[in-house]
Amino acid sequence: MSETILELNNASIFQRETLILSDVNIEIKKGEFVYLIGKTGTGKSSFMKTLYGDLPLKSGSGQIVDIDLQSLKEKEIPYLRRKLGVVFQDFKLLNDRNVKENLIFVLKATGWKDKTKMNQKIEDVLDKVGMKTKSFKFPYQLSGGEQQRVAIARALLNDPELILADEPTGNLDPQTSVEVMEVLQDINKNGNTILMATHDYALLLKYPSKTLKCDGQRLFEVVQKKQQQH
Ligand SMILES: Nc1ncnc2c1ncn2[C@@H]1O[C@H](COP(=O)(O)OP(=O)(O)OP(=O)(O)O)[C@@H](O)[C@H]1O
Ligand SMILES: [Mg+2]
Repeated sequence: MSETILELNNASIFQRETLILSDVNIEIKKGEFVYLIGKTGTGKSSFMKTLYGDLPLKSGSGQIVDIDLQSLKEKEIPYLRRKLGVVFQDFKLLNDRNVKENLIFVLKATGWKDKTKMNQKIEDVLDKVGMKTKSFKFPYQLSGGEQQRVAIARALLNDPELILADEPTGNLDPQTSVEVMEVLQDINKNGNTILMATHDYALLLKYPSKTLKCDGQRLFEVVQKKQQQH
């Protein structure tokens, strides 16, 4: 039986008092790779923010990784974040410390204590994104694609049930975008569920998958057009 990781019913997404999306009904199952597309300003990031507890779900119902979004309390947000891996367009690495220290920082903040286990975990996640040899580099010594791979490694530290990636390739050139996408595809093939907001139609064509679209204050699943045969 397939397990539901995310389910929203009749949900509305707000930025303060402004309605951004209404009557959202969607379900994401364990193991899926789902795109979230839509023009700029249609609500992709607002939707993501609601999922990781940065915006409250004021109306409708939502369950994410077995947590109820509507009744989510401020103090429960760290618990929600620990069950998610969040990846942003601008990487958000700490520039005053190297890759390994960036990852240690997150492990310590989420309750890890055993040094051997921490080292093992760091090695494991850096290996998954092909960055094992660069753990002593500082973020400014890495290319954009490498920084994003470290950010993905960081998102994997607590074995998240769902990865939310908001335009993870938005700052990268096409070739580097494909490299980062390959990492996300590998992670998905190993069983991770991923929701990825993107503007990059080339990626959608190259890696077709279930697609949700924000348009006209609605969020709905779209059937992707097949690539034209020549
Ligand atoms: N912090 C905020 N306060 C108030 N309104 C906001 C805030 N952030 C975004 N908005 C508004 O919410 C709407 C949706 O924005 P959002 O950032 O979710 O769109 P998006 O689809 O992620 O766009 P993009 O593709 O440019 O990232 C826009 O009209 C935007 O102006
Ligand atoms: Mg956005």
